[in-house]
Amino acid sequence: MYETERLVLRAFDLDTDLDIIIRWGNDAEYMTLQSSGPQMPATRESSKEFLTAHITKSKLPFFMVCEKPAVWPVQLNPEEEYFKAHVKACGPPIGTIGLQDSPFDFKNRVAGLGIGLADRKHRAKGYGTELMNWMLEYGFMELGLHRIELRVYSFNEKAIKLYRKIGFKEEGRLRKTYFRGGQWYDIILMAVLEEEWFDIRKGLKGQDEQAEPGATAILPDAKPILS
Ligand SMILES: CC(C)(COP(=O)(O)OP(=O)(O)OC[C@H]1O[C@@H](n2cnc3c(N)ncnc32)[C@H](O)[C@@H]1OP(=O)(O)O)[C@@H](O)C(=O)NCCC(=O)NCCS
Repeated sequence: MYETERLVLRAFDLDTDLDIIIRWGNDAEYMTLQSSGPQMPATRESSKEFLTAHITKSKLPFFMVCEKPAVWPVQLNPEEEYFKAHVKACGPPIGTIGLQDSPFDFKNRVAGLGIGLADRKHRAKGYGTELMNWMLEYGFMELGLHRIELRVYSFNEKAIKLYRKIGFKEEGRLRKTYFRGGQWYDIILMAVLEEEWFDIRKGLKGQDEQAEPGATAILPDAKPILS
């Protein structure tokens, strides 16, 4: 279990989290931002199949994100099973963040990144920024990655703005690769390299030529991330 200033990142568990993932998978607006695949109802079976293939079998970390409870850290009941006690302590998940093996390239130290605050009322409060900075710090400083990349749809301006703000650079566009609602959209490839992240951390650069003016990385504080 990890924490940022306002959030807790806990392990994903298929049994515990299946219901909420199915609920999010049936949110058409959310899925439009998350997947270029066909809009289909998420069934228990299809969700289980997807999660087993892409999350539980993945070698890379995937987290359920919760808001930090008012009293934190919570004293766990030693009588209770450890993971269940943690789940209870964290409260309901509001989204997910994870590194993905599409692509995951051990030799070249490349991983993908995915984020989603499925619960709308928790968007635009700075949580995305907090999570992305934590994940980059974890990916580069803990896992030793060299490059973290993501794909974002051209109509998802909020997400693009966030990624630029924290140091991702646009590297290319898959033109008209996403068909939705009778229209074609581009898929944008963005990435950040470890040396760029290190510069941002050191406060040497804080922003790149594509970033918003005045943008800086909001860095996790100095305490070890694996406390
Ligand atoms: C995209 C997402 C992760 C951003 O997280 P967030 O917590 O909402 O974003 P933040 O509050 O940290 O804001 C980060 C930046 O995004 C932009 N942004 C966020 N909300 C915005 C809004 N309502 N209008 C315009 N820009 C917005 C701004 O640039 C903001 O920076 P600023 O606060 O310095 O202006 C989140 O909104 C989300 O999960 N959306 C739905 C799923 C999704 O799009 N996932 C990404 C798929 S690639």
